[in-house]
Formats: sequence, structure tokens, C-alpha cells
Amino acid sequence: MGHMKKRVLSGIQPSGALHLGNYFGMMSRMINYQDENDLFCFIVNYHALTTIQDKNELEENTINAALDFLALGMDPDKSTFWVQSDVPKVTELTWLLSSMAGVGLMERSTSYKDKIEKGLKPHMGLFSYPILMAADILLYGSEIVPVGKDQKQHLEITRDIAIRFNNTYGDVFVIPEADINENTMLVPGIDGQKMSKSYGNTIPIFSDEKIIRKAVMSITTDSTDINDPKDKDTPLFKIYSMFLNNDEKDILSDRYDTPGLRYGDLKKELFEKIIEYFSPYRKKRDDLLKNIDFVHSSLNQGAQKASNVADTYIEKIRNSMGLKY
Ligand code: ADP
Ligand code: TRP
Repeated sequence: MGHMKKRVLSGIQPSGALHLGNYFGMMSRMINYQDENDLFCFIVNYHALTTIQDKNELEENTINAALDFLALGMDPDKSTFWVQSDVPKVTELTWLLSSMAGVGLMERSTSYKDKIEKGLKPHMGLFSYPILMAADILLYGSEIVPVGKDQKQHLEITRDIAIRFNNTYGDVFVIPEADINENTMLVPGIDGQKMSKSYGNTIPIFSDEKIIRKAVMSITTDSTDINDPKDKDTPLFKIYSMFLNNDEKDILSDRYDTPGLRYGDLKKELFEKIIEYFSPYRKKRDDLLKNIDFVHSSLNQGAQKASNVADTYIEKIRNSMGLKY
């Protein structure tokens, strides 16, 4: 008996070194969900094809993302942890859903518009990205999808597609809920914009310490006089706060109001905090690197588990649509 565990699913693109935004917005939350929920977590390399067209780069990023997750505490026995392309049925579902996805809905995708604005070539992969994401979520009967705020619209598109499908073919899909954490929903980058691999403004989790130090020391600050109270709606304050509990945050806040605070000192403290915080995980990651077979076998095991769930759903979906005759 007991309560049924909820199916929680989320994915991350292997599109570069994972950073504090990914960590607080998604990874740490997923890892914390493992005990109480039926967790599905995957590395979405099909999605990354929309921006990475270099074979070696994609391969390296994929295994690095897997190492990062495992080092941070993803437990392949408790959870279902895999690489998206190891369950290719998701691409079939993408096609099956595409007639439920109105062009108008897709055209309103802000992430598509943002990417085009940034100079990416407007190809069909970018345009259909949200349908593949809907397939990811619906193929596994996901109930809860923890993501950062930037993914909110993708979840709305997923729900829209699922509701339309259910209205057309009967009650096939679970309608998923986005789970967005208000405290960490937007980690700023070192320039104050959203921290993102594609903006080159990240503090990576597992890079060389020198790179992390350089990133921290480059956090944009203002030129408020050392003896004047300082603005807290700033990247340094916000990033530092991610590592503090409420009492510690109050102390930091007081320091911002007190004369004599130097941003340079604060940056050094933050750098130390980051290194200290991630040091056990860094060690774990080094150990995993020496045991890469374990990483591969964990991913295989995850793909097998995910595939079993996908099989049941895809059968049901095909039946409901008239693809069995
Ligand atoms: P990036 O913008 O670096 O390419 P992704 O789009 O791959 O990151 O995001 C992976 C996950 O991490 C998503 O759930 C996303 O919402 C979350 N995430 C990314 N950047 C941030 C951020 N700056 N703050 C909070 N969450 C973030
Ligand atoms: N689009 C998501 C991002 O960029 C990644 C993603 C792909 C995802 N498929 C998913 C997230 C399914 C949650 C569920 O962050």
C-alpha cells in the first residue's frame, strides 16, 4: 500500500559544460526527488542536434553530462537515468503528435524566436523542438516536470498537445504539470542575464578551478562607493545567495547595507564557497572517470528501463490512433 510515487521527469541538453543555473534550476532538484518519487532523468541528445553539429563535441558533451549527474548523486538503481537517443521510439511519437501541434502554437514559441534572433538558422529541428519535448514527456506518462522558468512555455505546449490528443482519441495521455521553483527559477549569469551555455556567461560546475575563479571574478558589479549601501538586485548577490541558508542570507544582506564592503573580497569568498560546495562531487566525478564502464552500464540499464515503459505507452497510442488494423 502506501502512497503511489509520482512520476517525475526532466531532461537536459548536452550542449556544453553544465553550470550553476542548470544545477540549481534542475539538476539538484531532480537528485533530491529520487527518494520520494519515480524519477526519470535523461540527457536529451536529439534536442542538442538542433545546435551541435559536430560528432565529437556531441559525444563528449553527452558522456560529460552523464558523469556530472552521477557525480552529483543521480542513483541509476533508484531512478531511470538514460540518454534520449537510446530509446528512439520517442521520435515516432514526435511524428504521431505533430498533427496535434498547430503551426500557430509553434510559431508563438519564444525559445524558437529567441534562437532565431540570436542568429541560429531557422531549420525544422528548431521549429519542432517543442514537439519532441512533448513526446519526451508524454511517452513516459510523466506527471511532474521540474524545469527552470525558461521552459514554462514548452510545458504549456505539451499540455496543449496532450489535451488535444485526448479529446481526439480518448484518454491516452497523462496531463503533466510543470514544477518551477520560485527561489531558483532564474539563476543570473556573470553578466546579469539568465545564466546560459549559449550566452557564454556561465559559472561551470566541474571545470578547472582556474576557469571557475575567472568566471566568478568577472561577475558584473556596479561602481557604488565602498561606503554606500549596495544594490542586492545584482548577479553577485543572487549567485552568492544560492549557497546560503536564510540566516546566512540575512547576514549577507546586512553586509550589503554596511559601509566597507568590497566586491572583490566577496567574489573571493564566493569562489571559495563554490569550490568547497562541489568538492565532494568533484572527487566522485574523478573516481567515475576512472571507471567509465560503470557509467556506460548505468546508462544502458536506464535505457532498458525507459524503453520498457515507452513500449507500453506506444502500443496504447498506436491502438488509439488506428495504426493497428
Ligand atoms: P542552457 O540555457 O544553459 O542551454 P538548458 O536550456 O539546457 O540550459 O537548460 C537545462 C535545464 O536547466 C532546464 O530545466 C532549464 O530551465 C534549467 N536552467 C538553465 N539555465 C538556468 C538558469 N539560469 N536558472 C535556472 N534554471 C536554469
Ligand atoms: N528543452 C529542455 C531544455 O532546454 C530540455 C528537455 C528536453 C526537457 N526534453 C525535456 C525538459 C523533457 C523536461 C522534459 O532545458
